[in-house]
Amino acid sequence: MKIAVLGTGVVGQTLAAKLSELEHEVMIGCRNTTEVLARNKPDNFGRPPFKDWLAKYEDIKLGTFGVAAELGELIINATNGMGTMEALKLAGEKNLSNKIILDVSNPLDFSKGFPPSLFVCNTDSLAEQIQREYPDAKVVKSLNTMNAYVITNPSVVPGDHNVFVNGNDESAKAKVKELLNSFGWKNENIIDMGDIKTARGTEMYVFFWAMLYGTFQTGNFNIKIMK
Ligand SMILES: NC(=O)c1ccc[n+]([C@@H]2O[C@H](COP(=O)([O-])OP(=O)(O)OC[C@H]3O[C@@H](n4cnc5c(N)ncnc54)[C@H](OP(=O)(O)O)[C@@H]3O)[C@@H](O)[C@H]2O)c1
Repeated sequence: MKIAVLGTGVVGQTLAAKLSELEHEVMIGCRNTTEVLARNKPDNFGRPPFKDWLAKYEDIKLGTFGVAAELGELIINATNGMGTMEALKLAGEKNLSNKIILDVSNPLDFSKGFPPSLFVCNTDSLAEQIQREYPDAKVVKSLNTMNAYVITNPSVVPGDHNVFVNGNDESAKAKVKELLNSFGWKNENIIDMGDIKTARGTEMYVFFWAMLYGTFQTGNFNIKIMK
């Protein structure tokens, strides 16, 4: 499948590498390709500059958000939550129409440092904002409740643990579940919470996740729901 991964950060990179390994045609989207390729310093977490990472993957293309979204049959939103609405605007309404948007973003505001706060919560969510702005797109929230390495390789955390899916369109959720299966998520560990409104729960969980990250000093963990 042709997949647009909007986002050049660790989530975009990790997802793009996994999808390419799974033989999807992948284009990463960003605001300005020249600017992204000119970055020559490690990021805040000491990871190499984007261009050094990209050089290792000859099958992964880079384009603007618009070019990538036009190519993608499925769009993954892996942009910073604070920039998500702007990134999707740049992607272009016509390039999102009737497509699945797998939204892995979180509404985190780090402007006052750690811990971050949620800039939308309680009565709304970023996923709902996206769905309202692009009613012809099929927004599915998933994979936002764990770090990038667990997202694409659940066995990083031993045993059974869960991933959540939220969205209004049943066929879009089924397609996303197939993608999750291909990453190694077993059906019994995928919890479909219901419509897009239920994304409020997984987005607000991320505040708890951030606190646990502070406690453990590693992001390689996940939760398992016991009933
Ligand atoms: N880090 C994790 O392990 C993890 C796990 C699950 C979910 N998430 C969520 O996944 C998303 C991506 O996280 P990340 O750590 O990979 O990267 P990030 O640094 O949060 O986001 C990088 C991307 O956001 C774009 N961006 C930033 N500000 C923008 C703006 N004002 N307008 C348009 N685009 C903007 C950047 O565009 P350029 O490429 O043009 O610079 C870049 O592509 C976030 O929402 C995060 O909360 C992260």
